[in-house]
Amino acid sequence: MSKGLFITFEGADGCGKTTQLNLLREYLQNNNFDVLVTREPGAKGLGEKLRDILLNYDGEVSNRCESFLFLADRAQHIDTIVKPAIEKGQIVLCDRHTDSTVAYQGYGRGIDIDQINKLNNIATDGLKPDLTFVFDIDIETSMSRVGAEKDRMESAGNEFFNRVRNGYLQIAKNEPQRVKVIDATKSIDKVFESVLKEFNILAQ
Ligand code: TMP
Repeated sequence: MSKGLFITFEGADGCGKTTQLNLLREYLQNNNFDVLVTREPGAKGLGEKLRDILLNYDGEVSNRCESFLFLADRAQHIDTIVKPAIEKGQIVLCDRHTDSTVAYQGYGRGIDIDQINKLNNIATDGLKPDLTFVFDIDIETSMSRVGAEKDRMESAGNEFFNRVRNGYLQIAKNEPQRVKVIDATKSIDKVFESVLKEFNILAQ
């Protein structure tokens, strides 16, 4: 593989995406691939400060302000971490990316989806993931996994998370080539089988 790959992991809080990302990282490293694991928001440096505000600030945050903070983190992340890694030929595994803004700020908070798509395009400078996993799970199960201590986003309530879930399913319907929906209620091993199958199709 001369150019790298960009693979993103998406889904509602508590869907198990980070566990699956780490399993794929382990598998790829064991097979001598050059892997970079990263996340949005808050990969490092300035991003970590933005993440702290986004998840922990306890004053009022308007929906538009929230959107721009996620997008600001994304622009910094793409420019300083993701693009250089892909150009070096690395496989970038990213915990959340553009689809989170469409699902959470678009479908969840009600910001216009076309506007979000345009802003996402500016934030990424046109870079698109080669493959995206959406780990789909019912809200009751995902919230029970999150537990009682919820951050600012996790406290948004079940109605919000139902809209987020449906948003992700709509994104997958719109872009079936890129976005693969995985049933995240299955066991960790079974879910990983599906992840690996999709990765192997991409890497062929
Ligand atoms: P996580 O890193 O633990 O998944 O938490 C990040 C939180 O931020 C999660 O609740 C989803 C939310 N989020 C958005 O609302 N919009 C975005 O664009 C991103 C990247 C995350």
